[in-house]
Amino acid sequence: MSNPRQPAHPIDPLFTERWSPRAFTEEAIPAAQLMSLLEAARWAPSAYNVQPWRFIYAHRDTAAWQPIFDSLVEFNQMWTKRAAALVVIASAREAVFPGKTEPVPNASHAFDAGAAWASLAFQAQLSGWSAHAMAGFDADRLRTAIDLPEGYAIDTVVAIGRKGDPAVLPDGVRAREVPSDRRPLAESAFEGSFGAQG
Ligand SMILES: Cc1cc2nc3c(=O)[nH]c(=O)nc-3n(C[C@H](O)[C@H](O)[C@H](O)COP(=O)(O)O)c2cc1C
Repeated sequence: MSNPRQPAHPIDPLFTERWSPRAFTEEAIPAAQLMSLLEAARWAPSAYNVQPWRFIYAHRDTAAWQPIFDSLVEFNQMWTKRAAALVVIASAREAVFPGKTEPVPNASHAFDAGAAWASLAFQAQLSGWSAHAMAGFDADRLRTAIDLPEGYAIDTVVAIGRKGDPAVLPDGVRAREVPSDRRPLAESAFEGSFGAQG
């Protein structure tokens, strides 16, 4: 099968080689390796460097795994059951900005958590592991499961594992186990103004 990921401008192969598999091998991830991925996330940029992200993680086959796993929608449970770890990425909705004493709403909290997710995903790719973000979870159930305080939003749950044989997946899902393409850059990038591009 031809690789649909042909960059139109020169970029490091890291960006096209990373993709989000659903077939994992069931290999456990060493604690130090998981910390390395979270360490990469820790160095993400954030508005005023307030670092709104929080990472609540669980290795498979530990007590912490099941409540997070149970909050995922059935489709995501079907493939994450072979993942090595789950990481909930949450972020503080408010921050105390430099020179202030009181917390105020932080408009960038989810944006910054997204930067942390991307850093984690690229470090995983560099380390021979794969990360797959999910929005498919029951947020109320997950909030209770991880004792998340009200002032934090749940941004995503990330499944981490070693990329495996697509044969472990049901037919319809197996067919999607290939790197996806992207629309042309000209449909996303506009000089000066958005204009009539919408
Ligand atoms: C915030 C977010 C939520 C996502 N939610 C799910 C999900 O619930 N289930 C799933 O199978 N994939 C999910 N994905 C994976 C996307 O479908 C995938 O990243 C996208 O199709 C691009 O493919 P790639 O990551 O392989 O390049 C999610 C990705 C992101 C970034």
